[in-house]
Amino acid sequence: MSVASVRGIELAYTDVGTGLPPVVLLHGYPFNRSMWDGQVRELSGRWRVIAPDLRGHGESGAGDGAAVTTMEELAEDVAALLDALRLERVVLGGLSMGGYVALAFYRRFRERVRALVLADTRATPDTEEARRGREESAQKILSAGMKPVADAMLPKLLAPATLENNAEVAARVRGMMERTKPEGAVAALRGMAARRDQTELLAEIDVPTLVIVGSLDTLTPPRDAESLRARVRGSRLVVIEGAAHVSNVERPAEFNRALAEFLETLEP
Ligand code: MLT
Repeated sequence: MSVASVRGIELAYTDVGTGLPPVVLLHGYPFNRSMWDGQVRELSGRWRVIAPDLRGHGESGAGDGAAVTTMEELAEDVAALLDALRLERVVLGGLSMGGYVALAFYRRFRERVRALVLADTRATPDTEEARRGREESAQKILSAGMKPVADAMLPKLLAPATLENNAEVAARVRGMMERTKPEGAVAALRGMAARRDQTELLAEIDVPTLVIVGSLDTLTPPRDAESLRARVRGSRLVVIEGAAHVSNVERPAEFNRALAEFLETLEP
């Protein structure tokens, strides 16, 4: 593990490989950088792969315990990490909340984005109902910790067949959720609830973009991915059959193939 001091916190990150262009992968909520282990292992032989723990998650600090962490703040942290690593431009990928952060990053720092990977994510903001649900989750986390929320989320994150037949993947996803710091999870929930609509930004994206979604994703379903593909000029959509929301963990071989084929098309 490496650590960089950025914007008042110690940010933990993985940084493996040397090939160009560098690829930065942003995890979802309430996970951490270890969700990318299967991608780091496979892709780092060919590319430099960097995966940070976003503020309040994994081994990164939570800062001053702010009650809300916006997607913009998380994007600023990523930019500060790139500064610390002296990286001007990278391929930026994010899954779910990581995708919200990638879009916020693109809006603010588009000159630093060589290409985008948007996995199991969307550009639209929360509905009122979703915002209420997030605050209920936040209250539950504050009163009872991560376990009840992890129990409730797990069946929505993985396909039924994975839950039934792949105890290792289920334990890994559950473990990530249970280890997330309550204050980090609550701040991220409130930040996601407050996130802006990025729909009109999609038409401005002029870098190569890969959209990935699990065919069984019910949280950010294939119709959201199709809408991203339709709005981002020249983008490509890969649907990973049989995977749900955490498609990179459920179907690493298919996810890695899609990512590697996309990266191969980019000049260093
Ligand atoms: C995630 O996986 O990052 C979350 O499910 C995203 C969300 O709750 O909107």
